Amino acid sequence: MTKAKHSRRTFLAMGAGLAGLGLGLSARAQTRAPDADVLVSRGGAIEVDLEARFGPTPLAGQSARLFSYGGRVPGPRIEVRPGDEVTLRFSNALPEPTNLHFHGLHVPPTGNADNVFLEVPAGEELTYRFKIPESHPAGTFWYHPHLHGLVAKQVFLGMVGLFVVRGELDQVPEVAAAREVFAVLKDFQIAGGRVPPPGPMELARGREGSLVTVNGEVEPEWSVEGGGLLRLRLLNASTARFYRLKLEGHPLYLIATDGGALEEPYELDELLLAPGERAEVLVRADREPGHYTLWNLPYDRGRGGMMGGGFGDARPRALAHLVYSCRRRTPLPLPERTGRVRELGALVRRRRFVLGHSMQPGRGMVFTINGQVFNPRRIDTRVRLGTVEEWEIANLGVLDHPFHLHTNPFQIVARDGRPERLRAWKDTVLVPAGGTVLLRVGFADYPGNAVYHCHILEHEDLGMMGIVRFETSGGASGT
Ligand code: C2O
Ligand code: CU
Ligand code: CU
Repeated sequence: MTKAKHSRRTFLAMGAGLAGLGLGLSARAQTRAPDADVLVSRGGAIEVDLEARFGPTPLAGQSARLFSYGGRVPGPRIEVRPGDEVTLRFSNALPEPTNLHFHGLHVPPTGNADNVFLEVPAGEELTYRFKIPESHPAGTFWYHPHLHGLVAKQVFLGMVGLFVVRGELDQVPEVAAAREVFAVLKDFQIAGGRVPPPGPMELARGREGSLVTVNGEVEPEWSVEGGGLLRLRLLNASTARFYRLKLEGHPLYLIATDGGALEEPYELDELLLAPGERAEVLVRADREPGHYTLWNLPYDRGRGGMMGGGFGDARPRALAHLVYSCRRRTPLPLPERTGRVRELGALVRRRRFVLGHSMQPGRGMVFTINGQVFNPRRIDTRVRLGTVEEWEIANLGVLDHPFHLHTNPFQIVARDGRPERLRAWKDTVLVPAGGTVLLRVGFADYPGNAVYHCHILEHEDLGMMGIVRFETSGGASGT
């Protein structure tokens, strides 16, 4: 990464960020730049130099030999607007191949865009180029490696970064008035300054580490003005760990999911985030001035069997702290409307995907979709551009699986036959062990091959992925 080029942009971005807050940051936060690495587009374009690195990396007050983007965990936050041209000069200084995926963005899955079939060998470079469509929703997206077989390892070692699209949601006055905080939730396992290799059972279950970080820190403190609003933008960047979030004394007002804004705030007592999922919540700092803990509550993502049980934390774990002292005379209100979530058109066809696992001779545990492990030379599902489909995802296994689809976002229609109340854009949905989720997806704009997979990335690497081909009309619609 070219340092000089970045520092100027970073400085500008930080200045804008701090001025935008209009609030004092706590002394603790001031000792460390809260947004030390933010790259913001200017005049309809952004050019980013991003290097994948392996080496000693600061993490939670120590140093560990990690994989990273530019020597930081998480990597730089990239911020764009609809219509922007993105040029990302990527160089791979890792001792192994890798590539990039832009999770949740509606951009081409082909060429040098969001193409997970590209491979950047060790020591080589590749320039990614794509345009964010003018109609792209604002939202919290992210980037990470996607080279089948190495995804879980590379993400577990630290390769994650936020990719934010700024737009209409950011202009809702109440949202704009809130203090914005990003929270990249990610666990690590460090022993003697390095990440030990995982065992086979750890991989089959999905690897969890005992060091749980928020933006690479342990229990950060966020200050907000009493009577003010906090806009918390959460990403579960763990390969396998789930987060069941509860903020002491405060309800969470969900305003956006994976694919952007909801129509209006939706009150939650707690929020479950599976790997790959994002959520934006507003918090009203309307209690007694004080100190409130963001907890991670126990959640069991396995249902019996030899792989079940013992996931996550057995007891609540403090993730971060919200602090407010003084109080505004007039508290900030919640927004009434946050956006529009259009209804998807008429249904063209329905399909079923069954998530499972089995033992395969010579390979050990594999994870399957419709009984098959991933094969890069097989097109599993052919869909027509311009059509709408319902996909039923049934999990017949003993572990929860978060199902993720690239390129085109979807809406959840029902869970276990119960109609979904909230209309929201998602790209990753939790399908609990034994459960079924019905989703509706419209295929738009981009022909080519993309993938769907379990976002427990160890499961994806162990086979739980399929290829979907987006075809222009005239193409055969098989499978
Ligand atoms: Cu975040 Cu295909 O992944
Ligand atoms: Cu993705
Ligand atoms: Cu899974």
